[in-house]
Amino acid sequence: TNPKTVEINGQKYATDSWFNVSSTVLSLVSRKLHLQTDHPVAITRKIIESVFPGPTYKYYNEFDPVVSTYENFDSLGFPPDHPGRARTDTYYINKDTLLRTHTSAHEAELFRASASGGYLLSADVYRRDEVDRSHYPVFHQMEGARVWDRTKVPNGDLAAAVLADLDQLPKHNMKVEDPNPPFHPERNPLQADHHTPAEAAAVAAHLKRSLELMVNEIFTRAKKAAAATTSTTTSTNPTSDPTDDEPLRVRWVEAYFPFTSPSWELEVFYQGDWLEVLGCGVSQQALHANAGRPAQMGWAFGIGLERIAMLLFRVPDIRLFWSRDERFLAQFRGLEEGGLEGLRLFVPFSKYPACYKDVSFWLGGGGAGGAGAEGGVEWHENDLMEVVRDAAGDCVEDVSLVDEFTHPKTGRRSMCYRINYRSLEKTLTNTETNEMHDRVVKGLVGRLGVEIR
Ligand code: PHE
Repeated sequence: TNPKTVEINGQKYATDSWFNVSSTVLSLVSRKLHLQTDHPVAITRKIIESVFPGPTYKYYNEFDPVVSTYENFDSLGFPPDHPGRARTDTYYINKDTLLRTHTSAHEAELFRASASGGYLLSADVYRRDEVDRSHYPVFHQMEGARVWDRTKVPNGDLAAAVLADLDQLPKHNMKVEDPNPPFHPERNPLQADHHTPAEAAAVAAHLKRSLELMVNEIFTRAKKAAAATTSTTTSTNPTSDPTDDEPLRVRWVEAYFPFTSPSWELEVFYQGDWLEVLGCGVSQQALHANAGRPAQMGWAFGIGLERIAMLLFRVPDIRLFWSRDERFLAQFRGLEEGGLEGLRLFVPFSKYPACYKDVSFWLGGGGAGGAGAEGGVEWHENDLMEVVRDAAGDCVEDVSLVDEFTHPKTGRRSMCYRINYRSLEKTLTNTETNEMHDRVVKGLVGRLGVEIR
């Protein structure tokens, strides 16, 4: 039974049968970690903002998370059957209103506002997802964009204007691999109806340099934080940290997004691994046209702030960002006042014991239920993840499928999930863990109609 209306940031919304936002998630809407002084998510935002200075770039940090389905998906060219639209993946308030799944939901509005110039928008975003140490239903993204207007550049020569702006950007000494041709006829085409190859190449070059400078700033700071930490703590093996002066290695990988073409992901080589850090591309012309700016062209990127903060400070578990525990928060206090010069790695407080509990069940309620479908409800793992989050909140570190089979005669599907109960803040008692697990089991039966084995 859903509430008829919900209130989000002081605004009331009518729900309908699409409503699927849990009260846990609703309670996080007001937290705005990207705006909390000395919070690592806010610090990460500030570091990135420092690479995109005003007045060219404007900063927006207060956009409300409630947007229309149209803004989040349709306006960006997501096809009607795109999996991201599913209720198993997205939090809907009603069929036409949802909690944004990405900051790109505001592109149209900001392209309209940014005749020429750029912007950075940081905000909380919402996705139904698995439970593990790097996923949380609320996280923060930063979207950045830079646009030029053909009618406002000297001689209408947009490529020349963009290259002149590129020339103003600082240089760097990173090792950049960019092995793919700039345009791929099908996967990553030039928007030939709207751009010349020279224009697209110029915008791509400006995009790439800008984002390389950004990751250089982040990872230079990460290395410094690591060096500062090992020199002030008694480390048994200080040389294993990347305190060296090796230039950073990055590579551009071809990617796909419905609202950019060509598109790329930027990967960084850090601590022995290639890490994907952001998605970006040359904006689809339809977005500019729909924003009432048909003469505009430009680039956009999106980056996950927790993911970067986890690398920067080596925060081992995404739940920590939501913690109000002083052992977490105190480690970052005063950093903003000190101009972020005192960055150190996060020093984990002791890890409390884990408690694994399994739950096995048949899909579909009693009787000769089919393979998973009961009353038209299709099985989706994210629904189980929601039940677990509602029942046990931040006391669950990880949920994983450990066994699955289909009965050869009845065709019924059986699954076994393993839930790792572990608080970041204390040792859980047996009673506490058992109570949480009971709530999980009840939720699975009551909400998903499974039959416990
Ligand atoms: N919105 C995309 C995501 O969430 C990232 C992106 C932003 C890609 C802007 C291209 C341009 O994955």
